Amino acid sequence: MKDEIDQKRRCFLRRATTAVGGIGLAAASVPFFQYWMPSADTEAAAAPMKIDISSVKPREQFTVPWRGMPVWVIRRDQDMLDSLNKVEGMLRDPLSEQDQQPAYCKNTHRSIKPEFFIAIGICTHLGCVPTYRPDVASVDPDWQGGFYCPCHGSKYDLAGRVYKDVPAPLNLKIPRHMYVSDTEILIGQDENGVEGAISIS
Ligand code: FES
Repeated sequence: MKDEIDQKRRCFLRRATTAVGGIGLAAASVPFFQYWMPSADTEAAAAPMKIDISSVKPREQFTVPWRGMPVWVIRRDQDMLDSLNKVEGMLRDPLSEQDQQPAYCKNTHRSIKPEFFIAIGICTHLGCVPTYRPDVASVDPDWQGGFYCPCHGSKYDLAGRVYKDVPAPLNLKIPRHMYVSDTEILIGQDENGVEGAISIS
């Protein structure tokens, strides 16, 4: 029990550090991130947040703090999308049967547009922040790349689907979101006007 509490405390500190790091990066890149960051009032109200994705290059990941959580935006190229079909037999929930995403993201790529993957970057084991590892396939043929949680070794594919035989029980969560335009995404609200993210336990 004490070990579990210690693990959760460590995970919380890592998440806090990630959020602070994201804010620090925003301060260093004012023109770009100013648009991303909600005002203090908006943040206090936990309102939906608009993200400009026009600068995200193929294979790149951006992390945006939202409601105290890291939200990832990853632009997948065709090789990354092709990898999703190769690993299904190794996944715990390849068809996303568990309620970890809105209905419009219950598909192989777990996103509205295959190219852009939006997810909450919190491991479903004890809440650490996994690292983005898009190129692991070159050194490990059993893993086509994805997200790796260093806390206890959980692995996810490039759609955030968890592998079998790792501590994490569920796929990564996908927040409600919608495209405002081809280059803008609204996090926390979808086409039906429903606000709020899927709850994070
Ligand atoms: S928090 Fe334990 S594997 Fe991610």
